[in-house]
Amino acid sequence: MTTADLRDTDGPAAPSGKAPVVELRGAGKSYGNIRALHGVDLAVRPGEVTCVLGDNGAGKSTLIKIISGLHQHTEGAFLVDGEPVRFSTPREALDRGIATVYQDLATVPLMPVWRNFFLGSEMTKGPWPVRRLDIARMKKTADDELRNMGIVLDDLEQPIGTLSGGQRQCVAIARAVYFGARVLILDEPTAALGVKQSGVVLKYIAAARDRGLGVIFITHNPHHAYMVGDHFNVLRLGTLELSAARDKVSLEELTNHMAGGAELAALRHELAQTGGVDIEELPEAGDLQASTAATPEGKS
Ligand SMILES: Nc1ncnc2c1ncn2[C@@H]1O[C@H](COP(=O)(O)OP(=O)(O)OP(=O)(O)O)[C@@H](O)[C@H]1O
Ligand SMILES: [Mg+2]
Repeated sequence: MTTADLRDTDGPAAPSGKAPVVELRGAGKSYGNIRALHGVDLAVRPGEVTCVLGDNGAGKSTLIKIISGLHQHTEGAFLVDGEPVRFSTPREALDRGIATVYQDLATVPLMPVWRNFFLGSEMTKGPWPVRRLDIARMKKTADDELRNMGIVLDDLEQPIGTLSGGQRQCVAIARAVYFGARVLILDEPTAALGVKQSGVVLKYIAAARDRGLGVIFITHNPHHAYMVGDHFNVLRLGTLELSAARDKVSLEELTNHMAGGAELAALRHELAQTGGVDIEELPEAGDLQASTAATPEGKS
């Protein structure tokens, strides 16, 4: 799969100019006297993928916790459809169409796929005293919805725990789409996945975008972000280091921001100042391994 594959199909190439569904203006969050997030501006528009990148502890989870209703911002403003909001529970965010797919998916591993698809929102039939689960309709709907998203599973009766991590992410994405999400937040959906499965998840991120959802895609991986992203936000120590539309930033620049290019150069410089370390003479990682292996007193 190439970088262009998921982008140049039919998704909008440039920001659509549509009004943002979700917006942060100078938003921040302090936990006591720890300032986890500060002065963040972010806009999530329908039919676009907004990527949030950053190293460990950069504030990515804090950012999405504010939007998904788990935490409240302590500075700035948070708007949904242009109206300032302050959610006190994830349920309130969900009622406004903001759905979050967490890495540790809230599924029941031993229950069938279709049961998990409807978990907590089961379809029923019959009048009140004899109301029961409408199993046939749930199975049919889950099957249709998964197919609509291009997800083909052999058997919806199989326990969801038997699916691969990537497939489970896909079911969670299809579920959010079916239950009417307008904004879909994905917290590192590809972090634990191999190359192929990551590709599959990226495909469904693109499918959700093409259905008009605003997607917030949290990731460590600039390559994954660049395959589907329309806008890129790089967090560093709680503030936005970069916020750029796709046509304003290249994959190289994005990778450089993520790798902390400036920081590495500074470290090299610092090492050069330290007496006794000649960085030009430092062996490459490969050489180092070879010489360790050759050392007679090295444990085997
Ligand atoms: N509940 C909390 N109480 C105090 N400090 C917190 C809390 N949650 C996060 N922090 C701090 O806020 C900062 C940002 O954390 P956050 O979890 O948002 O980072 P992250 O970008 O999601 O990192 P990772 O990639 O490791 O998931 C960190 O310094 C963290 O220690
Ligand atoms: Mg996190």
